[in-house]
Amino acid sequence: MISTDLTRLLGVRHPVVSAPMAGWSGGRLAGAVSSAGAFGMIGVGSATPADWVSGQAELARRHGPFGVGLMSWVLERRPDLLDAVLAERPAAVSLSFGDPAPYVERVREAGAVVMSQVQDAEKAGRAVEAGVDVLVAQGTDAGGHTGRVGTMPLLQRVLEIGEREGVPVLAAGGIGTGRGIAGVLAMGASGAWIGTRFCATAESTGTEEAKRLILNSDETATVHTRVFDLVQDIPWPEEFAGRAIRNSFSDRWHGRETQLEDQRSSVGPAFEATRGDYAEDFVYAGQAVGLVGDVPPAGELVGRLMAEAESRLEACNALLGERP
Ligand SMILES: Cc1cc2nc3c(=O)[nH]c(=O)nc-3n(C[C@H](O)[C@H](O)[C@H](O)COP(=O)(O)O)c2cc1C
Repeated sequence: MISTDLTRLLGVRHPVVSAPMAGWSGGRLAGAVSSAGAFGMIGVGSATPADWVSGQAELARRHGPFGVGLMSWVLERRPDLLDAVLAERPAAVSLSFGDPAPYVERVREAGAVVMSQVQDAEKAGRAVEAGVDVLVAQGTDAGGHTGRVGTMPLLQRVLEIGEREGVPVLAAGGIGTGRGIAGVLAMGASGAWIGTRFCATAESTGTEEAKRLILNSDETATVHTRVFDLVQDIPWPEEFAGRAIRNSFSDRWHGRETQLEDQRSSVGPAFEATRGDYAEDFVYAGQAVGLVGDVPPAGELVGRLMAEAESRLEACNALLGERP
C-alpha cells in the first residue's frame, strides 16, 4: 500500500486519479476506477447539458467517492454547470483552464476538495492564492487541452511551490504505466492524474474506432493544436491548445490557423459532415498513446498499474540499501 497526502485526503487506497475527460469519462468509468481503490472523475465539457451530470454521478456514487472536472472558462458562461455538479455532492471538483478563484469558496462550502490543473509556475502560484487544496501539474505531454511546458520540468517547479505552501501536488501528462506513477511519486508528487491510458478501457465512452486508433498510435503520433477548436468555433482561451492524434485535417490546417478562421463558414460545415471519420475528426490523446497496449476493464488496469508502481518503488528502496 502506498500512502500519500492524496490517499489520506480522499480516503482512497491508491494515489491514482482517472482524469476528467469530456466525452470519455462518464460515471461508469469513474465508478470502475473508484471500485478498484483509485479515484475516478467525471468530465464535463463546454457543451455538456447540465442535466447529464446527475445520471452520471448516480452511476459513480454506487462504487465510492468520485470527482467532477469543470473548466473555469466555461463556468463564466455557464454557471448552471457548477450548480448541477455541487448538487451531486462530489468528493472533489477540479477547476481548470482559467481562474479558479471565483468558484473555490462555493466548492469548498459544498464539502468538496478543490483541485486545479496548472500549466506553469505562475498559474500554480495563483491557484494557491485562490485557496485550492490540490495542485495538478499538467505538462504539455498530456492529452486534451494543455500548456507548453513538459511534465518533467513543470512538475519540479510546481512541487517547489506546493512544498513551500503546504499544498499537495499531482502529476499529469504522459503517465501511462506503473513506472510513470512510481517516478512521479519518487519526485515528491502525491499522486498521478492519468487520462489517455484510461481512454483505452472498456468503460470509457469513446467509440470503439477511437479506442482502436489510440491502441495503434505511437508516442510520435500527436500534435498540439488549436485547429479543432477553431473549426468548431469553440472559444477556448488561446493559450490552451489541444493535444490530439494527428490526422489529415490537422496536417492540412495546423500552422494555417488564420486562413482556417477566415474560411470557417465553408470549412466548418464540411468538418461537421465528417464527424466520426477520424481521418478528419479529432481524437484528443497525449504522448502516452505509445504506452497503450490493450483496452482492459478500468479496474484491472488500476490493479496492474499499482502492482508495477509498487515493485518499481521497492526497486528504488533496494538502490538505497546497496550503499556501502
Ligand atoms: C480525451 C481527453 C479529454 C479531456 N477532457 C478534459 C476535460 O474535460 N476537463 C479537464 O479538466 N481535462 C481534460 N483533459 C485533460 C486531462 O484531465 C489530463 O490532464 C490529461 O489527460 C493527462 O495527461 P495524459 O492524457 O497524458 O494522461 C482531457 C484529456 C483527454 C485525453
